[in-house]
Amino acid sequence: MRTVHTVGEVRGALHEPRLGGQRIGLVPTMGAFHEGHLALMRAARETCDMVVVSLFVNRAQFGQADDLARYPRDEARDAATAREAGVDMLFAPAEAEIYPPGFDTWVEPGALAQTLEGVARPGHFRGVATVCTKLFSIVQPRVAFFGRKDAQQVAVVRQLVRDLNLPVEIVTVPTVRGPDGLALSSRNAFLSPEERGSARALPKALEAGGKAHRAGRDAVAATRAVLEATPELSIDYVEIADFDGPTLVAAVRIGSVRLIDNLPLA
Ligand code: PAJ
Repeated sequence: MRTVHTVGEVRGALHEPRLGGQRIGLVPTMGAFHEGHLALMRAARETCDMVVVSLFVNRAQFGQADDLARYPRDEARDAATAREAGVDMLFAPAEAEIYPPGFDTWVEPGALAQTLEGVARPGHFRGVATVCTKLFSIVQPRVAFFGRKDAQQVAVVRQLVRDLNLPVEIVTVPTVRGPDGLALSSRNAFLSPEERGSARALPKALEAGGKAHRAGRDAVAATRAVLEATPELSIDYVEIADFDGPTLVAAVRIGSVRLIDNLPLA
């Protein structure tokens, strides 16, 4: 595996493989790799000739009161993990490589980005859409891999690709969970053992919602009922959204940690 840091290096290294007709797959990430990220890398490895992983903690998608400062960073460990997963290239640019002085063009997603996560995190999807557009342009992958865990992000990226006619196929990978059902997330590390116990209510609540839905009952009410039985946790939203089909989505806060999760209902 080769680690590169500049746009020029990426372009140079991918020129020949692209001319040779190789299928290039991109896995965009912010690092702190866990099994969720690895599932994306494996999916890319199985279907692509050349697997590129980007590692960039994108300041533009973090709000002011958000958790940018404490976002976990360990490039050496991530590089070793990616190498083991059979990744061909790790693109880990510095901030100024992606947002050089004078950078002033943004990709502004529409109504979809003003709901749910977009309400809780104003400007978040503008940052995601801008960096994804740049990564697609820099790497020019045939296919890019995203986790269902962030269902609204997938919907925003799909619309971006459709609206801007970007020549990239978007593939989604199912959510990877821990043994207690909690969706893997770098933010789980900020939960105390007690908080982690409370956090288990989130996947449990979604399961209850899914069960209610299959029985013809109100999925949102069933989800809320389980969440409300856990006083340490406050509900941000529980809704059914059309993200690649009907999806039960929820966000909660536990202490200083905000967690999101979802369950496809189709
Ligand atoms: P990050 O949070 O690092 O996630 C990178 C990718 O891993 C995303 O597509 C995310 O949905 C996926 N992922 C995270 N946890 C997962 C899990 N438990 N199971 C399956 N997939 C999981 O999402 C971002 O970074 C950024 O917004 C990014 C797209 C890189 C743009 O900056």
